[in-house]
Amino acid sequence: MSKIYILNGPNLNLLGKREPEIYGHLGLEELKGQLVSSFPTAEFEFFQTNSEEALIEKLHEAYLAKGAVVLNPAAFTHYSYALRDACAVLTSSGLKLIEVHISNPHSREEFRHNSVISGVATGVIAGFGLRSYHLAVSELLAN
Ligand code: DQA
Repeated sequence: MSKIYILNGPNLNLLGKREPEIYGHLGLEELKGQLVSSFPTAEFEFFQTNSEEALIEKLHEAYLAKGAVVLNPAAFTHYSYALRDACAVLTSSGLKLIEVHISNPHSREEFRHNSVISGVATGVIAGFGLRSYHLAVSELLAN
């Protein structure tokens, strides 16, 4: 199984503190602990950035390593064509990239209803809290 990149975009460094009524009380360190203990045989790389450039560079790295990606693009979801193009580099070459969201963006403000990423993602999982990441990893490991 190839390496699984768990990539998180802007403001998710504050997960657990940021709007906990929407995103919950657990942070990225807890997510990491959960995934490592739930999937002990998987090889993970965890990465969070507030920078669009750094996220794109990490996607290029995952592409060159022929990795699989679980990506929460956060607010970039809704407008970053550059991030979309970087995701398409992976999926158009047959690599898997699952878009995940902690909340269900479709039940929130209208600007969150559109994702420019979904059209080039292998699949999308949203609305299950941190379980969204677990579901995505299960899917990657099942195939
Ligand atoms: C999010 C949803 C986005 O609309 C928002 O900008 C985020 C988090 C989620 O995981 O629910 O930062 O991607």
